[in-house]
Amino acid sequence: MGRAIAVRMGAGGDQVALADLPGSALDDAVAAVHAQGGNARGFAMDLRDTRLCNAAVDAVAAWGGGLDVLINAAGVWLEGPSREVTPEQWDQVLDINLKGAFFLIRAAIAPLTERKGHIINIASDAGLVGNSGAAVYCASKGGLVLLSKALALELAPLGVRVNVICPGDVATPMIEFQASRYGNGDPEGYKRRLLAHYPQGDDARFIRPEEIARLVQYLCEPEAAPITGATLSIDFGITAGY
Ligand SMILES: NC(=O)c1ccc[n+]([C@@H]2O[C@H](COP(=O)([O-])OP(=O)(O)OC[C@H]3O[C@@H](n4cnc5c(N)ncnc54)[C@H](O)[C@@H]3O)[C@@H](O)[C@H]2O)c1
Repeated sequence: MGRAIAVRMGAGGDQVALADLPGSALDDAVAAVHAQGGNARGFAMDLRDTRLCNAAVDAVAAWGGGLDVLINAAGVWLEGPSREVTPEQWDQVLDINLKGAFFLIRAAIAPLTERKGHIINIASDAGLVGNSGAAVYCASKGGLVLLSKALALELAPLGVRVNVICPGDVATPMIEFQASRYGNGDPEGYKRRLLAHYPQGDDARFIRPEEIARLVQYLCEPEAAPITGATLSIDFGITAGY
């Protein structure tokens, strides 16, 4: 999703900084932005290191001559019975999905205030409704939703907007990871079971990362100025009820 967002924003003329783990698909993502004529730079970092969060934001603001938007799209998935969750797994999921996002935001508040900027956090449908077998992931994403709302109120007097997007299942490497890691040898069956939850029936499909990117781009436009503190579902109605 981060890559799709960067490609769209870059193609629209924005200078885009991407951060991801060393050895990840970071270089490919930067190249994808360049291939669309955009201007991008990659920052290899583990966002669990709060010192690196500060350093990355400083470096990006120096490179860009300021900071207009921070998008938190990094994340990891964990599922399985809660009785089997280890303290290390808990820390990994919460540190990446929630703590890392917060400390990037903390570092970005000053430069975003200068530019009346905007923060967009990518949570999940699993941050709005319970997802059986994914309690720790739900805790991290539910935390991110309320973190976003509280920050929207806190930062509004500074002119900084904060919104949170809650996607349903999106066709990204994360879904492929889920299907291969937790599909009991039948990744396609795992994906079919995910889609079976959707109200579209046989027409259900995964959301495209580009569909998330378009919403992000809209939120960054001046016309979206009144939108802050919003929790925006883009999930084919999966959290609408039953
Ligand atoms: N794919 C889905 O169905 C789906 C649905 C709802 C929400 N989400 C959430 O949306 C966001 C984007 O997910 P995606 O589908 O693009 O997943 P993805 O796995 O394709 O991308 C997540 C990225 O986060 C990076 N990352 C992981 N740990 C990191 C760390 N410690 N430091 C820096 N980067 C790290 C990974 O290297 C990866 O590039 C995530 O927060 C995810 O939880 C995904």
